[in-house]
Amino acid sequence: MRKDRFEGRVAIVTGGTTGIGAATARRLVEEGARVVVAARRPEPGLALVAELGEDRVRFCKCDVTVQSDVEALIAMTVETFGGLDILVNNAGVTCFGGYTPDLSSQDWHQTIAINLHSIYYACKAAIPHMKCRGGGAIVNTTSISGMSADYGFTAYNAAKGGAINYTKALAIDHAQDNIRVNTVAPGLVDTPMADALEQFHVREPWVANIPMKRGGKPEEIANIIAFLASDEASFMTGSVVVADGGLSATTGQPNLPKLLAELGVAG
Ligand SMILES: NC(=O)c1ccc[n+]([C@@H]2O[C@H](COP(=O)([O-])OP(=O)(O)OC[C@H]3O[C@@H](n4cnc5c(N)ncnc54)[C@H](O)[C@@H]3O)[C@@H](O)[C@H]2O)c1
Repeated sequence: MRKDRFEGRVAIVTGGTTGIGAATARRLVEEGARVVVAARRPEPGLALVAELGEDRVRFCKCDVTVQSDVEALIAMTVETFGGLDILVNNAGVTCFGGYTPDLSSQDWHQTIAINLHSIYYACKAAIPHMKCRGGGAIVNTTSISGMSADYGFTAYNAAKGGAINYTKALAIDHAQDNIRVNTVAPGLVDTPMADALEQFHVREPWVANIPMKRGGKPEEIANIIAFLASDEASFMTGSVVVADGGLSATTGQPNLPKLLAELGVAG
């Protein structure tokens, strides 16, 4: 960690009051940035402001599916801190809505709105301000679920897949504006979102499939977001950085030596 890596920089983190977003806000502030965290519920946001100090962090109540809320977030940030250099589009929800015939239209639209439309709203409003500063960095939190498919997660797969390709499209469109756009694609990370797995009692078999046999920590994803937002990543744009304990490195085929041993067949 470098105390001054983001000195003088202004950042927004959507979904910045819990999980990966809160870890990212803390990391950016520790390294010198001034940060606006945006989310719907004020309590965790105001707690973060109390923890990190009002001179460094502000909370903005914002539903990222509402374009006028997102425009107000960008305007409030520029007004409060004088500009915008870093935009972390992190707000998201997962959706286990079942197979398509059972997936409600409301779940489909809401999942796409939170994970994908929100990025368009934020980038549309933020990019002109970044251009005024001579450049900027956008980091989108997507998922390995945007790179390949999960059973029964169609809306989330479609939304995160769209967000990954949108990241690449933004990157090439704004390379000449000195605005870099990258995405981190996590696997399982131990945040409130992942708590849903506990509720369905599926965490254990889920983790058993991960080569590293654990979920990630929010701070491990925040490290990557901070790197992508920093000048150290100055030649990276349109990149997808996977952090999943090795899960997507597998083909999905069984662990043959383990299977043969379980079957009592010599390998
Ligand atoms: N936890 C995981 O296993 C995992 C894996 C891959 C990707 N992700 C992605 O990481 C990102 C952060 O999730 P997390 O794991 O920290 O979980 P989280 O639930 O702690 O964070 C999600 C945040 O998004 C906010 N949010 C949701 N809907 C919103 C809306 N309409 N308007 C404003 N804010 C809204 C929530 O308030 C919350 O702060 C998400 O985009 C998620 O899809 C998480």
